[in-house]
Amino acid sequence: MSFDLVFFGGTGDLTWRKLMPALFQAFRHGKLPGGGRILAVARDDQSDEKYRAWLKERFQEVDGSKRPNDEEFQRFAELVHYTRMDLSQPEHYGRLKTWLEERVGGQADTVVFYLATSPHLFTQICQQLGAAGLNHDKVRVVLEKPLGQDLASAQEINKVVRSVFREDQAYRIDHYLGKPSVQNLMALRFGNALFEPLWRRESIANIQITLAESLGVGTRGPFYDQTGCLRDMVQNHALQLLTMIAMEPPSTHDADAIRDEKLKVLRSLKPFTAESVARDVVRGQYRAGNVEGRAVPAYLDEGKVPEGSQTETFVALRTEVQNWRWAGVPFYIRTGKRLPGRDAQIVVNFRPVPHPIFPGANQANRLIIKLQPEDGLELQLLASKGSSSGEALTPVSLDLDFDKAFPTNRVGAYERLLLDAIAGRLNLFVRSDEQEQAWRWVEPILEAWAEDTTGPRHYNAGSWGPAAASALVARDGHAWAEEV
Ligand code: BG6
Repeated sequence: MSFDLVFFGGTGDLTWRKLMPALFQAFRHGKLPGGGRILAVARDDQSDEKYRAWLKERFQEVDGSKRPNDEEFQRFAELVHYTRMDLSQPEHYGRLKTWLEERVGGQADTVVFYLATSPHLFTQICQQLGAAGLNHDKVRVVLEKPLGQDLASAQEINKVVRSVFREDQAYRIDHYLGKPSVQNLMALRFGNALFEPLWRRESIANIQITLAESLGVGTRGPFYDQTGCLRDMVQNHALQLLTMIAMEPPSTHDADAIRDEKLKVLRSLKPFTAESVARDVVRGQYRAGNVEGRAVPAYLDEGKVPEGSQTETFVALRTEVQNWRWAGVPFYIRTGKRLPGRDAQIVVNFRPVPHPIFPGANQANRLIIKLQPEDGLELQLLASKGSSSGEALTPVSLDLDFDKAFPTNRVGAYERLLLDAIAGRLNLFVRSDEQEQAWRWVEPILEAWAEDTTGPRHYNAGSWGPAAASALVARDGHAWAEEV
């Protein structure tokens, strides 16, 4: 199957940091279909050769084992081309069309336009592609997050996208869905009979989703300050994980069967009011501190962050999924920058046995779904050491490391998603109604914060966020996993 993959934003960070390295991995693993061409589009005037040389240099910054050697890069680079475009100029899309059509062996079976630009350009690019007739059946368009700043702007983008492309031509990326660990979550729930009978309010006390990063905002200050943690991580990545945990079993593995179920979860989330935002949502911003043994500056001292900014770099919240399966079970989400480490996991805390016969604290089982840095599953059971009768039980773990279980050819998130977009598999992409519903749910939080000028609570870089995040969980008689 031949393909043409066009990256708008071809010299941008996302392209060289994530997309090109992911494509190279696919190429190295022999997964990239033959007969492919990759076209980077940007404003600079340069030749294919110059772009390839630039890309080769950028690849030096890629993680060691993922870096191509000279011979590999040479072979990969033969697929890579460059063209200059002014995205507002219709004739430049005409030139692009000619490039796509003038191909040895005729037009490719699939043409993927990847919009790795600032989202304010999305509508313009889609309209121009449509006007140039570049929205035909073979075309797919991939839209990077963030899609909009709020519900209205997301709806506006979706309206334009829909006026040019069919919904099944639009691939909205949430790269968390491409992580192998997240696919394993589907496998755990719907490929194994073991957990499903317990996956409900009768057996589960609470669920905690933590997406912690040790990094700060780095050079992304101007973007991040306009965005904040709620829009950057909660509206998309965290909510997508929550839907995967809470959804009903889909009737098939088809994209729409899965996305219908995810949408139902989003629609069942308890809506926020100004009062519940004040009670159930904590926002924080990091001060200077120590992370992984290194002194780091405060958010306000990061490059290009406006003085006195009230942008949040941390969010913790409590919500519920209001349906029969989950009524009353707290779902806690916590995510932030400059936390103690890069650590993403979902903790499912089961209820204790109804009638304890062993002495000691009333402990319970716990399932930890590890997303990163390791990709694994840990099931905590209670066991007897057998040293004396009447002893308290001790927690022990069944620990599964997927990187060890499947040591070869594990596919990274962007690699998986790029290959899926080329192959036309929509399962791991977000549908417009899901995305809009997620915005609808976070909007009351944004509105309440806009009214409340006290701003975020401060936390030391390297800590687990403001103390209020612990209090939020303690109020229900629970604790974050690391506090137990
Ligand atoms: C991106 C956010 O979507 O996800 C970043 O914009 C964040 O701020 C990143 O750092 C986290 O992704 P990962 O895969 O490194 O956990």
